[in-house]
Amino acid sequence: MKMINIANGPQQVSAIIQGCMRMPALSKEDAAKVIRTAYDNGINFFDHATCYGAGEAETRFAEAFPLTGLRREDIYIQSKCGICPERQEFDWTKENILASTDGILQRLHTDHLDTLLLHRPDLLFDPEEVAAAFDQLESAGKVRWFGVSNLMPMQIALLKKYVKQPLVIDQVQLSLEQSQLIDQPLYMNNKTTDLSINRDGSALDYCRLHDITVQAWSPLQIGMFGGTFIDNPDYPELNRALAEIAEREQVSKAAVAIAWILRHPAKMQAIIGTMNPSHIQDACDAVKVTLSHHDWYALYLASGKFLP
Ligand SMILES: NC(=O)c1ccc[n+]([C@@H]2O[C@H](COP(=O)([O-])OP(=O)(O)OC[C@H]3O[C@@H](n4cnc5c(N)ncnc54)[C@H](OP(=O)(O)O)[C@@H]3O)[C@@H](O)[C@H]2O)c1
Repeated sequence: MKMINIANGPQQVSAIIQGCMRMPALSKEDAAKVIRTAYDNGINFFDHATCYGAGEAETRFAEAFPLTGLRREDIYIQSKCGICPERQEFDWTKENILASTDGILQRLHTDHLDTLLLHRPDLLFDPEEVAAAFDQLESAGKVRWFGVSNLMPMQIALLKKYVKQPLVIDQVQLSLEQSQLIDQPLYMNNKTTDLSINRDGSALDYCRLHDITVQAWSPLQIGMFGGTFIDNPDYPELNRALAEIAEREQVSKAAVAIAWILRHPAKMQAIIGTMNPSHIQDACDAVKVTLSHHDWYALYLASGKFLP
């Protein structure tokens, strides 16, 4: 496994993260297999959120963990709060951040989170309240490091004005199919394509400038919940390009698609979501793949983009 050091944050974390959004569908025995397979393939970082199965992902993880033979200190556990589907709102109030974190710790049967991320922005967020919540969580030893998810640079800058702790992560969507995080600079100022639209305030460059590690969610998905593009007949050119490199490197197409993210010099982590142990193994082969500069562009172009 390729390991990375998150600036001002956890050290020696795996470049591939096991996402647990799909864990509620599993028995505790199957969930234990997922955790153990991920770990045996070099993954030491697990991603949760309060809204994954309304807490069920965290509950299942905690039920399964004792069956894995692993110790709490063998892994990093991350969770996210702020999305409240049951109330149809996003909520970054101090009260909700504190209550959500207590709920996460109870469900996960742990006394601390390694990283806590604020999930999607609460349009009414008050950075001073967030700062007060983070201070309390840090001084109580409940959270070691803090970050955000799906956040624009100006909102991160606003938080940073008040929050004392470094914000070490921004978790955002990136895949060959959903590559808007990296597209815009290539087409800048070009009126003939929507690819020139800056949709995220240059989040990637901001994160690199401010030592914030980007975690790329859904590396294999079409849109948000469109299924995977791997082996999908609607993506013939992309699958051809992935297959060519997969054959050369003796890995799966999924591994090549994830290697495409890891090849970027921003040293991102990629968060995989499969609950299938053999697919987890496939994905982890991404770290064995050597993509040349030319390979990277060939995959990018095969995903439907063009050079201006
Ligand atoms: N911050 C946010 O807003 C946000 C949003 C969404 C997700 N996330 C995080 O990102 C994680 C990953 O999300 P995701 O599940 O959408 O990501 P994903 O890994 O891109 O997609 C998983 C899909 O890919 C398929 N797949 C995986 N390996 C495959 C292979 N070798 N061959 C064919 N198909 C394969 C899976 O099918 P199988 O099940 O058959 O393997 C599953 O349908 C989540 O668990 C969560 O932690 C964060």
